[in-house]
Amino acid sequence: MLSSTMSPARWFTVALAAGSSLPLANAQYYKIGTKDEIKESARTLAYDLMLFYEGNKTGQVPGILPGPPTEHKGDYYWWEGGAMMGTYIDYWHLTRDPSYNHVIMEGMLHQTGPNADYMPPNHTASLGNDDQGFWGMSAMLAAENKFPNPPDDKPQWLALAQGVFNTQAHPDRHDNTCNGGLRWQVPPTNMGYNYKNTIANACFFNLGARLARYTQNETYATWANKQWDWLWSVGYIDNEEYRVYDGGHVEHNCTDINKAQFSYNAALLLHGCAFMYNYTEGAARDVWKDRIDKLLVGIKRDFFPENIAYELPCEGRKGACTADMLSFKGYVHRWLAVATQVAPFTRDEILPMLRTSTEAAVKQCTGGDTGRRCGFYWSEGVFVDPAVDKTSGAGEQMSVLAAVSSLLIEDADPPATNLTGGISRGDPNAGSRSRDTIDTLGPITTADRAGAAILTILVLGSSIGMWSWMSISLGD
Ligand SMILES: *[C@@H]1O[C@H](CO)[C@@H](O)[C@H](O)[C@H]1NC(C)=O
Ligand SMILES: *[C@@H]1O[C@H](CO)[C@@H](O)[C@H](O)[C@H]1NC(C)=O
Ligand SMILES: *[C@@H]1O[C@H](CO)[C@@H](O)[C@H](O)[C@H]1NC(C)=O
Ligand SMILES: *[C@@H]1O[C@H](CO)[C@@H](O)[C@H](O)[C@H]1NC(C)=O
Ligand SMILES: *[C@@H]1O[C@H](CO)[C@@H](O)[C@H](O)[C@H]1NC(C)=O
Ligand SMILES: *[C@@H]1O[C@H](CO)[C@@H](O)[C@H](O)[C@H]1NC(C)=O
Repeated sequence: MLSSTMSPARWFTVALAAGSSLPLANAQYYKIGTKDEIKESARTLAYDLMLFYEGNKTGQVPGILPGPPTEHKGDYYWWEGGAMMGTYIDYWHLTRDPSYNHVIMEGMLHQTGPNADYMPPNHTASLGNDDQGFWGMSAMLAAENKFPNPPDDKPQWLALAQGVFNTQAHPDRHDNTCNGGLRWQVPPTNMGYNYKNTIANACFFNLGARLARYTQNETYATWANKQWDWLWSVGYIDNEEYRVYDGGHVEHNCTDINKAQFSYNAALLLHGCAFMYNYTEGAARDVWKDRIDKLLVGIKRDFFPENIAYELPCEGRKGACTADMLSFKGYVHRWLAVATQVAPFTRDEILPMLRTSTEAAVKQCTGGDTGRRCGFYWSEGVFVDPAVDKTSGAGEQMSVLAAVSSLLIEDADPPATNLTGGISRGDPNAGSRSRDTIDTLGPITTADRAGAAILTILVLGSSIGMWSWMSISLGD
């Protein structure tokens, strides 16, 4: 559909605004009618997103967005830098514009940590399995997209993804509370260590599915199956309607389910299922197909009303979405787009929806001095300054970049594997020298436990919009 000409409705609005004293809204800046327009729009969106990044400036830390908020250094937690790296790895793959590859290479390598497992000492004390997982998934993506390899003396993309996977598969991270599953946080002293949530487990599931497909090593698939089965049995994936919930606490055997539904949980599961669908055969493949079909029905129902991305638990109330949540729409678009490559039967359902959603996304990018800044409220059709949600707007900008560049998915190579041209060198034993801070932080004291419980109660008592932030450490 061409969006380069003004629709009658738009004419009417403009005429109305011109004829009254209402301020005339900026005209739509981004065009996405043709492939060239999409590339040009993505190029400008990518440029504008880089303006939020300071990691390549002298004295700044490569790989991260300004933050973390707990240290009053900016709006963004560590994980979101990893998510941004992934967004540019896809940007390059989809548009073939290599302008930012050097910045991404530097950021991805700076944050690996000494054991090449995305547990850098600066962040291990507040590490969530999901935080580490997002960096690991960006490394996996670099391998799948055949992103240029790091220098030989540096850790390689596939090995980094394996390093993250192996640390998360390690017995130290698993216990029998709630019959299994990963905890949200890694260090026992962190608030949220007693929470077993969907995102931590979905990241691990997703990495397992993708490593299985890339390497054909069945061990990864076994873990992916186990993760799915756990999420299903504990009811975090609703067994009838396929709603995907946030998590529950170990002291309640994970039955106190927080039913907040965040879009990225469902989309990350669907993406992982699509890789398992592609990796498996026969009856097993049919099982994964059924899961994809049902998750997709749920995703359309809950997160794409009118076919436009909508962050269900918080978008209805301005100021209720956290900086984390304000970035979820972009991941949803990217993951659904890639799902159409590895599970092509989803194409006709997904691609028209992403198109409509992206048209809404660019329509509201009319803010700021440039007249092209993006906000978060896609379905409202007008720019709302990210200041209403107390952020500088990096997540909002990143989401629109992701949506626009993902429109090029049909012309992009599908994720590579070891057998189909993958060029990344792996190491099945990556991460085996890693150690969780669990050993170094000392025993958990009763005071810590009480502190965590009190904070949990405070959190439980507060609004739903407060849920599912990441990387909030106890006691800073
Ligand atoms: C950081 O990277 C951006 C994007 O490539 C570039 O425009 C900018 O000049 C770089 N800044 C420094 C200080 O190198
Ligand atoms: C850790 O923090 C220090 C001080 O801010 C910084 O110089 C260094 O680059 C950081 N390292 C990583 C891997 O982020
Ligand atoms: C905990 O929940 C699981 C289902 O997730 C159930 O099989 C198990 O029996 C429960 N354990 C206790 C102690 O209630
Ligand atoms: C698996 O993915 C490839 C793309 O890598 C695709 O061509 C193929 O059709 C997929 N397999 C199935 C069964 O859909
Ligand atoms: C693919 O995997 C095999 C077996 O693990 C290995 O020998 C080969 O080098 C890999 N190929 C590439 C391109 O990584
Ligand atoms: C498969 O992956 C597992 C888990 O990381 C590893 O222990 C094993 O060595 C791998 N097998 C091969 C053939 O690479």
